[in-house]
Amino acid sequence: MSDSQNATDIVHSALHALHEQGVHFHASNEVLTRLAETTGQKSAPYPTRSAPQHEDMRPKHDLRAAFQAQMSTAPAATAAPASRPPARAASPFNEVANATALAPSTGTKAERLAAMRSPVLACTKCPHLVKTRTQVVFGVGNPDAELMFVGEAPGADEDLVGEPFVGNAGQLLTKIIETMGLSRRDVYIANVLKCRPDPVPGETKNRSPMTQEIETCKPYLLEQINIIQPRVIVALGGTAVEGLLNLEKSGISKMRGHWQDFHGIPLMPTFHPSYLLRNQSLAEKRHVWEDMLAVLEKLGHPISAKQSAFFLPRG
Ligand code: URA
Repeated sequence: MSDSQNATDIVHSALHALHEQGVHFHASNEVLTRLAETTGQKSAPYPTRSAPQHEDMRPKHDLRAAFQAQMSTAPAATAAPASRPPARAASPFNEVANATALAPSTGTKAERLAAMRSPVLACTKCPHLVKTRTQVVFGVGNPDAELMFVGEAPGADEDLVGEPFVGNAGQLLTKIIETMGLSRRDVYIANVLKCRPDPVPGETKNRSPMTQEIETCKPYLLEQINIIQPRVIVALGGTAVEGLLNLEKSGISKMRGHWQDFHGIPLMPTFHPSYLLRNQSLAEKRHVWEDMLAVLEKLGHPISAKQSAFFLPRG
């Protein structure tokens, strides 16, 4: 391994450790460019973005902050079944997605998703991820889905297969979807980050995506949501919630189960399936299941007595 590669690995490890402690870095484009140059990458790895703002839960992005202000006048999500979000031209969120110009604005949802697939698969905006990824993991499911699940980032299995949520956490997500009376083919599944975060040397655990990586990749997810226009989004875990809602820190334990507004689309934050794999308590399973019952209710799907009773303590 070269000295510069070694240095990069050390920097990644340190950033990862700090990220795990909740410290998020916002490196300038200049710094990232210099870092890329030390590893032999000549181009700027990230597009310019506005400086980070606050440690609180206000949106990080100026443009998005303006949109959030507009959205705050919109009626709050209620327990009533969700209706389709407003048409494309009426939504301020569309302005963000349109900025990517990845998909044509006409055609079926399947055609528009297919049109953006190739440029996303060929993305090289994060050279450090390009180096270690096997492939870009675009998203999978029904382009006309009324329900969309958004996760964090591909892991090793997803990186190999090219499909989100196919490893252990994915199998649990599939079970959850099926227990809801749906199948993976009914819903759409995507991640905030389309490439596997480069593994931290000596670590088997997947690294959490960095803020810069999320900001760079997010236009792709926004465009996917904009095309699919799901009636409900489920954000799986803190990173998905933070990425979608532009939060510095989601506090997923407090946020889960509470409806949020994503530009007119009701968004349910819940625990990531891999958290449930680590924490097998009945109470946490029930929490996630209650979130899914709320999603079914919002969609106007019937809920059986058997479904209502899953993961309740016996006796
Ligand atoms: N975890 C995620 O967040 N996404 C995947 O695709 C797989 C595991």
